[in-house]
Amino acid sequence: MSEHIMQRPIGVFDSGVGGLTVLKALREQLPNEDFLYLGDTARLPYGTKSAQSVTRYAQQAAGLLVERHVKLLVTACNTASAIALPSLQELFHPLPIIGVIDPGADAACKASVGGSIAIIATESTVRQGAYSQAIARIRSDASVVSIACPLFVALAEEGWVAGHLVEGIVAHYLDPLFKSSRTQPIDCLVLGCTHFPVLTESIRKVVGLHITLVDSAHTTAAAVTHELETRKLLRTMPTHPGHVRFYATDGAERFARVGQTFLGEPIVESEVEIVDL
Ligand code: DGL
Repeated sequence: MSEHIMQRPIGVFDSGVGGLTVLKALREQLPNEDFLYLGDTARLPYGTKSAQSVTRYAQQAAGLLVERHVKLLVTACNTASAIALPSLQELFHPLPIIGVIDPGADAACKASVGGSIAIIATESTVRQGAYSQAIARIRSDASVVSIACPLFVALAEEGWVAGHLVEGIVAHYLDPLFKSSRTQPIDCLVLGCTHFPVLTESIRKVVGLHITLVDSAHTTAAAVTHELETRKLLRTMPTHPGHVRFYATDGAERFARVGQTFLGEPIVESEVEIVDL
């Protein structure tokens, strides 16, 4: 592998700022890597759109990062991963492209003792059934229930992540998980949407301590690290601190303001470049 390719950045894209939870995990695991992050804020949410639209949006977002010579691409958006990953891998072959569904499914299969797994995600991710299919491939004995929680995205974007009102909404959506007709109680809940990790505290209060919460951000970062190691694409300047360039398709101020909750560190508005896809 040429030295030149190793020094290239890793591309990460999402429908908006939610994928910054994945970028945060990537930065923790790969502190010396450079990243380009694109949030398609002009067209958020993807989670309520048709498969055709999500595929087109994902191809355009990925295309922008490919033009900027990334060495690996991460589809941080669960909806885009569920719907468009195979088409991206075909279109941009041989660039390695990693989505968040398989790493999340893998982590859930490892975490669940009884094999009774719940997925919470956007409407489009649930409709696509990608998590259920990925889990069935790894663990045929697993039983999976999926629930769409569309309001969680808006709550997270508004910074409403805790308190009675939020817990009430979480309880309303998650109620079907606790129906007594279930033979094996749910023991693992996958946060199958970029926005949901910021609601962890409220979700935990509602589901109790006996259910393992799986956040695909960390498992995706581990999958990316493994892929870079296998392909010998890790940056070879270990003392170089990694740098992030931010791109958004709309609203630099909102991207910076809302995004810092997800990234866990400040984002400077003037460093968010607005791009057209
Ligand atoms: N990024 C989306 C996901 O992870 C959530 C927000 C949206 O609907 O675009 O599914």
